Amino acid sequence: MNNLDQQAEQLLAVIRAYPHELVSWKRLERRLDANRDDILAAAQTLASWDYKLVVRARTGITFRTAPDLLTGVELTHGLRTKTIGQTVHAWQSVGSTNDKANELARAGAPHGTVVIAEEQTAGRGRLGRHWHSPRGTGVYQSLILRPPFEPDRAPGLSIVAALALASAVEELVPDRVHIKWPNDLLIRGRKVAGVLTELTADSKTIEHVIVGIGFNLNQQTNDFPDHLREIATSVRREMKRKVARVPFIQRFWTYFEREYSEYVARRLTRRRGRLRRLSSLLGRDIVVRSGSTAQRGTVIDFAPDGELILDNEGEHIVVRSGEVTIDKE
Ligand code: BTN
Repeated sequence: MNNLDQQAEQLLAVIRAYPHELVSWKRLERRLDANRDDILAAAQTLASWDYKLVVRARTGITFRTAPDLLTGVELTHGLRTKTIGQTVHAWQSVGSTNDKANELARAGAPHGTVVIAEEQTAGRGRLGRHWHSPRGTGVYQSLILRPPFEPDRAPGLSIVAALALASAVEELVPDRVHIKWPNDLLIRGRKVAGVLTELTADSKTIEHVIVGIGFNLNQQTNDFPDHLREIATSVRREMKRKVARVPFIQRFWTYFEREYSEYVARRLTRRRGRLRRLSSLLGRDIVVRSGSTAQRGTVIDFAPDGELILDNEGEHIVVRSGEVTIDKE
């Protein structure tokens, strides 16, 4: 960040504390320890970032509105979490936010750090798939976590993310949200978000976990490539209106922090009812494939670390991970 950008951020911090109120030149000069020319230059920088301000030569500056931009300043403004999102690395464009997050985690980034991007050029999905990540419509982010539990509990963090996403989406689109174990969020049976959880650990200790989330927020039908149009959806497509990204992301972080604490303290024991209600698979006959193995059965429940419990002719099978397909209709 250059000096001008820093001055602009400092000016922003002062004026947005008083939205729609005039902050006098005298007060600005004192608070920023700067002269009027510098403050004017900072105001121009803010205007070029799409902040709406009124600058009056005789009196001072009034803050009107902020743009819906995924910048650290916007994403942390008014955020009430303790850890999640308190440090944000926001990029215009990256290869993959999961890769950036991994680099930052290896360099010591704290628990709760978020890497977020307006666009990914090499977004990764599960099983080596590509994640379509065009600018400005979807939300692409990766959370760096340093959980205090052993590595075998890490897969449950995908469910933690799905539960938090479901809570954030239900505020906008009530009663139509489902979780497809282990990590897809669906609206009316179409995918609206996917989670890619990556673990760095030795056999006993977690170094860090990256929870990468791709979320379809403001895509319109034509923004999806042909092969996704029938199987994917977005919140905008369901609500028929555009959704402000920053408040949505902040709500998601707040829910994530709550679900994460709950998972650390009590696993998913108190979330079983909600998981069952939201599940798109409960009672269905499915096949779960992982590598060369395939397990079949009827989904009857969820175990405390997020495993799926299948009934296969009276035998109960606990499945940790894999790719689900519906066996019979
Ligand atoms: C899936 O296959 O459903 C998981 C998709 C995960 C995509 C997200 S987008 C942000 C983060 N960065 C990536 O490269 N992938 C995840």
